[in-house]
Amino acid sequence: MRKGFVLWFTGLSGSGKSTLSKMVEERLLERGVPVEVLDGDEVRLNLSKGLGFSKEDRDTNIRRIGYVAKLLSRNGACAITAAISPYREIRDEVRKSVQERAAFVEAYCECSIEKLVERDVKGLYKKALAGEIANFTGVSDPYEPPLNPEVVCHTGEETSEASLGRILKTLEMMDLIPKDPSAEYSAEEEAEVAKRLKDLGYLG
Ligand SMILES: Nc1ncnc2c1ncn2[C@@H]1O[C@H](COP(=O)(O)OP(=O)(O)O)[C@@H](O)[C@H]1O
Ligand SMILES: [Mg+2]
Repeated sequence: MRKGFVLWFTGLSGSGKSTLSKMVEERLLERGVPVEVLDGDEVRLNLSKGLGFSKEDRDTNIRRIGYVAKLLSRNGACAITAAISPYREIRDEVRKSVQERAAFVEAYCECSIEKLVERDVKGLYKKALAGEIANFTGVSDPYEPPLNPEVVCHTGEETSEASLGRILKTLEMMDLIPKDPSAEYSAEEEAEVAKRLKDLGYLG
């Protein structure tokens, strides 16, 4: 059995977590990898129904997502999570617990607040900036970017296909998914992924 893993997206609202998680899911299914997506917006309707956006409730929400992701990944599946997960300490706590039996791949969707406000996919930034939404991450609530993510996607500056390519390449290099010989990556991009993983202590 191939080693299971958690692909943990983190980033501000509108930074591309849901978009990329669905794209990765599709590609992994094509390659025969068992996969489940735990999307923050959806989890808040069932597993975390009733939780709000205080620090305590956010932490509880992330711990629940982390717990389910751990259960899936330790049975050889891939669990993709797509929640803002603003606090570094809680993400690192989940990382530690997942890494007991599976791999943890943190994917940071990096996008400037200016770009997010300009895009405003869900119309939430406009409201948050007008003071109509309290505790809005990046506007009136903290976001702590990861210090050593396995992969960074600059979603304000690159296409979602480019972001997807880098994520798949990272998973391939970590030997978590089968290689797709037909996929095309530039030598430059491949070298960039390899460098990041080497710096983090992966790859011999
Ligand atoms: N490189 C990229 N990766 C992901 N999404 C992107 C990228 N470039 C542009 N987008 C767009 O940004 C938006 C991201 O929205 P969404 O995935 O719902 O964000 P989130 O789930 O983080 O709140 C989508 O409209 C998507 O098409
Ligand atoms: Mg989303």
